[in-house]
Amino acid sequence: MNKKAHFLTRPLYKSNRCFVSRKSLTLKNLNPNIKEMYMMDTDDPVFKKYKMLKERLKQCPESLPYDEILMGSSGCLHSSGYRPLTYLRQVASAALYPALLEDESFPDDVKCKVIQLRKHYPSVGSCTESPGLKMIRITMSNYLSRRDGGLARDHNNVILTAGSTDGVRNILRMMNGCIDGKSPAIVIPSPSYPYGLMEEMGYKQITYELDEENSWASTTENLERAIAEAKKKYALRALIITNPSNPTGTVLKQNESEQIVKFACKEKLVLIVDETYQRNIYEENKFQSMKKVMADMGKPYSEMEMVSVFSLSKDVLGEAATKAGLMELQNFNEDVMNQFEKCVATNFCSNSIGQVMMYAFADHPVEGDPSYDLWKEETESRFNSLARKAKMIVDELNKIEGFSCPPLEGGYFIYIKICVPEKAVEEGKRKCYKPSTFYAIKLLQETGVFVTPGDLS
Ligand SMILES: Cc1ncc(COP(=O)(O)O)c(C=O)c1O
Repeated sequence: MNKKAHFLTRPLYKSNRCFVSRKSLTLKNLNPNIKEMYMMDTDDPVFKKYKMLKERLKQCPESLPYDEILMGSSGCLHSSGYRPLTYLRQVASAALYPALLEDESFPDDVKCKVIQLRKHYPSVGSCTESPGLKMIRITMSNYLSRRDGGLARDHNNVILTAGSTDGVRNILRMMNGCIDGKSPAIVIPSPSYPYGLMEEMGYKQITYELDEENSWASTTENLERAIAEAKKKYALRALIITNPSNPTGTVLKQNESEQIVKFACKEKLVLIVDETYQRNIYEENKFQSMKKVMADMGKPYSEMEMVSVFSLSKDVLGEAATKAGLMELQNFNEDVMNQFEKCVATNFCSNSIGQVMMYAFADHPVEGDPSYDLWKEETESRFNSLARKAKMIVDELNKIEGFSCPPLEGGYFIYIKICVPEKAVEEGKRKCYKPSTFYAIKLLQETGVFVTPGDLS
């Protein structure tokens, strides 16, 4: 008689010689766009070195000639000990935990603001309308109109987002897809802030060179040259500009903005303008929003489709992780706007604390309010400190032989030109690094100063 025996074992995947992967998702069948994407945190050799050295500083600090790594590459203020602005955090805290409204240390105007907010939005745990709470959209649209000297406003054009990147993502989602068999492409300057989003969505990036000898100016000739061939092969959908620029630290002059607008209009491109650093302006070349430039140019330019994004990630606030942002859309067809609302509705709504922060920022204390003096003192001293450091760093860098950098007109980043000795270039080549990457690795390794290479390898 056959005896039945039962055994219990766990699947012996590893020891099984005829191993067949049970994973449905593997590198082979992964979305190729994700594999294509270049992200600093995972792909940059300098960043990899940084992670390694950070660990070594913890495990074996005596093996390195420094005891901390100086993060010159991160735009995250708070991660380097920056203190939050009191008023903004008080409003956010009381919105999250209304029992604080009874706290005597909280100023009356903070309490009033939160009580007012709670009339429209009783709990930050509840979802708002998809484009954001109407009352906050109205507040933001008034703020943007004041910024632009009283330009017409419409809160329906303002969508609250989880930061600037989320705004860019939203509009890119709207334009993705082939047209007449041509893949979609985005025109972008070089150098530029690297939006991994474009690679993720499968957009082809058509880069045009900024004119280094001319303060990294944007020129129509370079734009025309870049798209001449690309136009035949790709469906050009948009032009993305960052103003003030990360990484060049320049602010667009009025005539440059006008040229960009004219070019986008002629080529029927949607203009996407990342104005995240709009309030970090240190030189006389004042920031002018693209919306204002277009309005001043009159028709047909004032009727062109344009999207501008802004957030509280930079500024003097540096609230990067609260993901408080907005996008303002200009001149899109009504049916496109309806589709757009559907598109943002897939997230249900933007994060509530980001929305509350936007509200507190745009409707900040004014003279006579109990929080005004502290708000003024904190915002002004932070701005002055950023401006002073920007100038000091540029001045000191320019004293180093082989280094040169233009004044930082706006934003957080200084774009340094360094003459790398031929021998170092050769050694870098042998290790398959571009000169800037090789230099940045050496700098990090030997001095603990972490900078981002300008031409990512
Ligand atoms: C030009 C630019 N846009 C957007 C961002 C990210 O902003 P957010 O956190 O609002 O998505 C950065 C961050 O460094 C940036 O430099």
